[in-house]
Amino acid sequence: MIRKEKTMRALNGTSLLTVLRPAVVATAILLAGPITAQDAGAAGDAPAIEAQSWSFSGVFGTFDRASVQRGFQVYKDVCAACHSMKYLSYRNLGEPGGPEFPEAQVKAIAAEVEVQDGPNEDGDMFDRPGRPSDQFVSPFPNDNAARSANGGALPPDLSVIAKARPNGPDYLYALMTGYKDAPAGMELAEGMSYNAAFVGHQIAMAAPLSEESVEYSDGTTASVPQMSKDVVQFLMWAAEPKLEERKRIGFQVMIYLIILAGLLYFTTKKLWSRIDH
Ligand code: HEC
Repeated sequence: MIRKEKTMRALNGTSLLTVLRPAVVATAILLAGPITAQDAGAAGDAPAIEAQSWSFSGVFGTFDRASVQRGFQVYKDVCAACHSMKYLSYRNLGEPGGPEFPEAQVKAIAAEVEVQDGPNEDGDMFDRPGRPSDQFVSPFPNDNAARSANGGALPPDLSVIAKARPNGPDYLYALMTGYKDAPAGMELAEGMSYNAAFVGHQIAMAAPLSEESVEYSDGTTASVPQMSKDVVQFLMWAAEPKLEERKRIGFQVMIYLIILAGLLYFTTKKLWSRIDH
């Protein structure tokens, strides 16, 4: 009896909110996504980046499937000439939450590339067509080769670039569409291009996209803004392949907590209804 009273008193002292607070905080983190160092201290001298509306933002955000597929085409036909994406495997292209290419198409995409394998029984390395289990083939064998082919600048791996830059998607879109003539009086160094979004405005990557750089298989007009939006959808998925799942679970947890809060409220009321206070 004494123990029961103690429990009651303890229960009375803790409000519902206190009990639920850790869960609410956890859910908020789940919905907002992991906080990265970049979020905390955005580059001070970075030029203003215009915010775009992305289908994957917000609590119910999802990727635009057709756009992610087109974005992969942009990467494959344009960016892959210089940028690796070594943390992706071809099979990822068929997994739920991404481009979701059908299995046969994933196999065909993988088979388009040559992968070095071996050694065979003679001890020699050999090339074979890619398989879905292979990692994305890199355009250069190592960083030095990549640098030497790009005037000394290293094209970064794009696997997680959308998360590695502050406001990744908006920044990448601004970068892709930010090539302009250098303002009068600005001297560009040899091999550099002017880009409004890049820190310092001089970038060693020449404008990668121009009208109709790719021919979309779904008939979409390949304007520079269109290709930029699409490649950002693709890069965002690559950097956060579980985004859709995270948001779905986050929402379910919210519903669960609301129901639980209701139940706890009525249970508490009922429990205390027989005690005078
Ligand atoms: C001809 C080679 C080449 C192609 C094609 C190319 N890039 Fe680049 N990219 C580079 C180089 C070189 C750099 C490094 C630039 C620098 O540090 O000044 C770079 C840098 C970048 C960066 C990093 C910018 C930053 O904030 O540091 C991103 C993002 C990027 N490229 C995206 C793309 C995308 C997306 C495509 C395809 C649409 C693409 N690139 C096509 C050569 C290329």
